[in-house]
Amino acid sequence: MQNYADVLKDFAERHAIGLTVAAVAGIGILGLRRWMAGGVCRSKARLDGKTVLITGANTGIGKETAMDMAQRGARVIMACRDIPKAYSAADEIRQKTGNNNILVKKLDLASLKSVRDLTKYVQENEKRLDILINNAGIMMCPKWVTEDGFEMQFGVNHLGHFLLTNSLLDMLKRSAPSRVVVVASVAHVTGRIHFDDINLDKNYDNLVSYRQSKLANILFARELATRLQGTGVTVYSLHPGFIRTELVRHLFPHWAWWKRMIASVLMMIVKSPWEGAQTSIYCAVEESLTNETGLYYSDCARKKPAAEALDDAAAKKLWDLSTSMVGLA
Ligand SMILES: NC(=O)c1ccc[n+]([C@@H]2O[C@H](COP(=O)([O-])OP(=O)(O)OC[C@H]3O[C@@H](n4cnc5c(N)ncnc54)[C@H](OP(=O)(O)O)[C@@H]3O)[C@@H](O)[C@H]2O)c1
Ligand SMILES: *[C@@H]1O[C@H](CO)[C@@H](O)[C@H](O)[C@H]1NC(C)=O
Repeated sequence: MQNYADVLKDFAERHAIGLTVAAVAGIGILGLRRWMAGGVCRSKARLDGKTVLITGANTGIGKETAMDMAQRGARVIMACRDIPKAYSAADEIRQKTGNNNILVKKLDLASLKSVRDLTKYVQENEKRLDILINNAGIMMCPKWVTEDGFEMQFGVNHLGHFLLTNSLLDMLKRSAPSRVVVVASVAHVTGRIHFDDINLDKNYDNLVSYRQSKLANILFARELATRLQGTGVTVYSLHPGFIRTELVRHLFPHWAWWKRMIASVLMMIVKSPWEGAQTSIYCAVEESLTNETGLYYSDCARKKPAAEALDDAAAKKLWDLSTSMVGLA
């Protein structure tokens, strides 16, 4: 026993510097991990008798958000593209929450027809809509186009949700007080709406396109809030944080092995999907936000977005452009 302690003491003395560095690094990583985790939604609000529709709820933060809404007693409509994946997510949600009021519906945001089919179904079969969460998103894919010929990231992240939201506004108004939650991103910083080349045909860059689509999300939320003043429908946009999800699926496969290795290590530090869902949940249920609208949040707190996202003229122009692109005019 004495011997063992001596060996340990000897080891510690010889490797004092190395051990100190390891300890500091360990504490640093734990601290960084805590800091990355961000805020948690503390609201205990119940949603019994209320209906929540969430897009892209089959995986990632959308699934965690749906789980939370179900836990609060809501009827949850999971609007998803991948139906088998959505069914298994719905089963998991029913099992974990004991809430059987979970519905899976087909929605491909890269098709205006699919958006119209879903909204028609909802209008004809649902009694109310209290919370709409525009969560689905695609990031940094190659230059793809939607069924209607729009550049994919702008088409899915913004235009599909633009039509979806506008088509469900009457139901949201009838169910007021109700909320629209728009999952945007800090990627909107340095973003720009390319009004002269909205589909980026001249010079496609997958990051420029993602930034444009996420800036569009915030400008949309802002203009929508203005248009909904006095209706009892409030609007929130947010950055969920950096989260370990499938969002990088179009990115990773093209990277060199060493880049993927660094990224895999970073993935261990970033938020879990549950942590990533907290700000969406906060915007959907937090009681103290009842009278706030058109603002931007992150880590369960109000944040100031970049100047580009506060440009009301751009927001109006984007609204008009989107209206004509989806054929709402
Ligand atoms: N992860 C992050 O670090 C991060 C950071 C900032 C912002 N965000 C935002 O958070 C949101 C959720 O992303 P996530 O991280 O949870 O990523 P994810 O795991 O890839 O989930 C994205 C969801 O969107 C769906 N989706 C994609 N294209 C669609 C389409 N055409 N029609 C219908 N649904 C479609 C996906 O469905 P399929 O399974 O069928 O593909 C999936 O359910 C996105 O809006 C993203 O921009 C994420
Ligand atoms: C919201 O505004 C209404 C009417 O002005 C007020 O009665 C209510 O207390 C406010 N709620 C919150 C959470 O600030």
